[in-house]
Amino acid sequence: MDLKQYLHEKALEIEKALKTYIPSLPAEAERLGEAMRYSLFAGGKRLRPILTLASAEVVGGNPQVAMPAACAIEFIHTYSLIHDDLPVMDDDDWRRGKPTSHKVFGEAQALLAGDALLTHAFTILAASYKLDSVKPEKVLKVVLEIASAAGPEGMVGGQSADIEQEGAIKAQAAPSVLKYIHTHKTGSLIMASVRAGAILGGATLKQLKLLTTYGKKLGLAFQICDDILDATGDPKLLGKPVKTDATHKKLTYVTVHGLQEAKNAARRLAFEAVESLTEFNELADPLRAIAHYAIQRRK
Ligand code: IPE
Ligand code: IPE
Ligand code: MG
Ligand code: MG
Ligand code: MG
Repeated sequence: MDLKQYLHEKALEIEKALKTYIPSLPAEAERLGEAMRYSLFAGGKRLRPILTLASAEVVGGNPQVAMPAACAIEFIHTYSLIHDDLPVMDDDDWRRGKPTSHKVFGEAQALLAGDALLTHAFTILAASYKLDSVKPEKVLKVVLEIASAAGPEGMVGGQSADIEQEGAIKAQAAPSVLKYIHTHKTGSLIMASVRAGAILGGATLKQLKLLTTYGKKLGLAFQICDDILDATGDPKLLGKPVKTDATHKKLTYVTVHGLQEAKNAARRLAFEAVESLTEFNELADPLRAIAHYAIQRRK
C-alpha cells in the first residue's frame, strides 16, 4: 500500500473534521479561539487520530463513527504539546515548524488554550452520544478509555515523572523509571487512540486484546524514535528544536541505553507490533505500515 498517500488523505479528512469541532466564541474570548486554532492547525502528523480511524476500520467498522473520538484525541494531544513546551516544562520555542503558543500568545493564554483544548475534547466526545451511529454505552467506554490514558494514570503521570527526573540521571533507577515515563507520557494516549477506534468499530474482545498489544508496542517505539530524533534529527524537518533532551539532562532511551540500542529497541518493538496483527486480514495493512513508519520517520 501507498502509506504516504494514505496518511495524507486521512490527515486531510481529520483536518476537515477538526474545523467543525472548534467552538465559535464571542469577541471577548476570541484570543482563546485564536490560540486554540493556532496550535491545532500548525501541521501535526495527526498520527493518533489516524490510528483511531484505522483501528475502527480494521475490525470492520465505519471509520466515521470514530471521527469524534479521533478529533478529541488530537485536541488532547495538542494541549499536551502546548503545555509541554511552556517555560516551566521543556521551555521550547518551536513546535510544528512555528513559534510555540506561549511565544505568540504569552504564557497565560497558552496555558488556557491547553486547558480549553483538553476540556473541549470531552465535550466533543460526550456529545457524540447524539449520533445515531454511536451507542451511548460505547461513548461512555471511550470517555473512560481516553480520560484515564490522558490523566494521572497515563500521560500526566508520565509527564510528571519526566520533569521529576530532569537533571538528575540516577543510573540504577533509570531503566524502570524510563519505562514508566515512556509508556505513560506517550504510550498511553497512542494505545488509547487504537483502543478507542477498535471499541467504536465493534471489536471483539480478542481483537481488542491484539490491538492493545499493537498500540502498546507502537507507543513505545514511537517515543524511542522521538528520543532518537532529538539526538540525531534535522530541526527543519522536525519543526522543533533538537538536542534539547541533552541540554535538560532528560531521561531518554538514548541517554540510558545509547543510540544503537535505542535503534534496536525501536525496530524490535515495531516488529512485535506488526506481529500482533498476524490474525488480521489486509484491512490491517495501514496499521502494519504505520508501525514501520513510526521508526523510520524523520519528523
Ligand atoms: C510529539 O508527538 C510529542 C510526543 C509525544 C513524542 P508527535 O511527533 O506526534 O507530534 P505532531 O503531532 O506530529 O506535531
Ligand atoms: C512529550 O514528550 C510528551 C507529551 C507532550 C505528553 P517530549 O517532551 O519528548 O516531546 P517533544 O520532544 O517536546 O515533542
Ligand atoms: Mg517533555
Ligand atoms: Mg518536549
Ligand atoms: Mg522529545
